[in-house]
Amino acid sequence: MKELILQTEVTVCTLDEMDASMRMLVEKAKEMTQNAYCPYSNYHVGAAVLLADGQVFAGANQENAAYPSGLCAERTTLFAANANHPNTPVKALAIACYTNGHFSNEPASPCGACRQVMLETEHRFKTPMQVILYGEDKCYVFDRASDLLPMNFVAENLLG
Ligand code: THU
Repeated sequence: MKELILQTEVTVCTLDEMDASMRMLVEKAKEMTQNAYCPYSNYHVGAAVLLADGQVFAGANQENAAYPSGLCAERTTLFAANANHPNTPVKALAIACYTNGHFSNEPASPCGACRQVMLETEHRFKTPMQVILYGEDKCYVFDRASDLLPMNFVAENLLG
């Protein structure tokens, strides 16, 4: 028997410590929280992606009276970017959350389903996708989406 220890490297920083392109992406994600359609949770999530050719796509969570029909901000954004630009890698994704009149102090934490979709995006383009989680007090920056989902499930697993 043997124990495996999984380690994740995360950069902890503030918005001012980021480079200009990352800061711009976070600002876009923050702005997008105001476009969330979230009458049921009142939890506004904004996301923005930077494509390899410099284009930026952004989205927000979309809720529905039939609750499971809604979709998170990260998937709304990634699906829109990938549907419009199926051959352009996604280089970075920023996420921000806003509720009760303020942005979250802690970095926004993506749900499991969104992590799986981030992983698929990174995998299909064979390009690391940086993930930036915004918080008022601190931000977390992951150099690749797979860091948010260790021991993950990708296409190759289907081959057995
Ligand atoms: N939500 C996101 O947009 N992203 C996440 O990663 C977590 C949750 C949304 C879904 C729902 O509209 C609201 O936040 C509360 O769960």
